[in-house]
Amino acid sequence: MINVLITGSNGQLGSEIKAISDNYPDFHFIFTDVAELNITDYQMIDNFFKENHISYVINCAAYTAVDKAEQDYDTAHYINVNAVKYLSQISKKNHAALVHVSTDYVFDGKNYKPYVETDAICPTSAYGKTKVEGENEVRNYAEKAIIIRTSWLYSSFGNNFVKTILKYGKERGKLNVVFDQVGTPTYAADLAKAILDILPKLNSKNTIDTYHFSNEGVSSWYDFAKEIVELSDFECIINPIETKDYPLPAPRPHYSVLDKSKIKNEFNISIPYWKDSLKKCLNLINE
Ligand SMILES: NC(=O)c1ccc[n+]([C@@H]2O[C@H](COP(=O)([O-])OP(=O)(O)OC[C@H]3O[C@@H](n4cnc5c(N)ncnc54)[C@H](OP(=O)(O)O)[C@@H]3O)[C@@H](O)[C@H]2O)c1
Repeated sequence: MINVLITGSNGQLGSEIKAISDNYPDFHFIFTDVAELNITDYQMIDNFFKENHISYVINCAAYTAVDKAEQDYDTAHYINVNAVKYLSQISKKNHAALVHVSTDYVFDGKNYKPYVETDAICPTSAYGKTKVEGENEVRNYAEKAIIIRTSWLYSSFGNNFVKTILKYGKERGKLNVVFDQVGTPTYAADLAKAILDILPKLNSKNTIDTYHFSNEGVSSWYDFAKEIVELSDFECIINPIETKDYPLPAPRPHYSVLDKSKIKNEFNISIPYWKDSLKKCLNLINE
């Protein structure tokens, strides 16, 4: 049996991997979150690898509180940087392939066309900075790895923008949402499927490479919120506002659309349009 370690498996992406794992019977998945495997603890990871023969690691664990990271940089750094170094080192020691997930927030958002993997990184937030450093730890210490940058993740599991719009939209009937930040929503279930489809192809390459993955299409947060309401059974007015009228501790890129040509071409995967995936997720949430 081929053992696949999932870290941070109670989060959005980890939960989506768990939900589809039965479709991949060639793999034996070991789902862990901080209680079973705290990735900031080198010895704990090392022992875990000694006790279980791990062939693949999918690192879904992260510090994802973007605004909180501005004040709590050390914790964010420990989880998004130091722990990623440990996972990279121990994966290498055990010849395991590592899938690490990163973010569109590594970019400053000043592009006018979708970001490719080789575009200059320039994070504007503390969270983005830790994710850039985490990517570099993978490049410096892993042996076989892919880094997948994704954007605007949502799921029927956990808390996210979709759940927030549903909750406050129903409660308040009117919401202000920014229209001058443009990107692409990504259904974590689609990312989970892409990762598991790619997994068998990783062991043949002894390289470290970076890819972009989001759903297809482009949206502002305003358009995203409008679509969530339109696909649901309640009335809510979504009012477009500018970022300057909704100040948050962490700056966000104004434009963070990702070009996905590389991952599609290299691994021959197709990616759903964001509105189609949103519909699927809302059907699950509203079940
Ligand atoms: N969410 C987004 O919009 C977004 C966008 C772009 C990229 N990404 C990236 O995509 C990946 C997956 O994100 P997600 O939204 O699925 O994250 P998530 O829902 O926040 O899940 C992360 C999980 O990691 C766990 N965790 C935290 N510290 C840990 C530790 N020391 N050891 C083990 N587990 C730990 C968390 O537990 P606790 O909840 O108990 O802390 C949580 O269960 C991350 O790398 C993130 O940076 C996310």
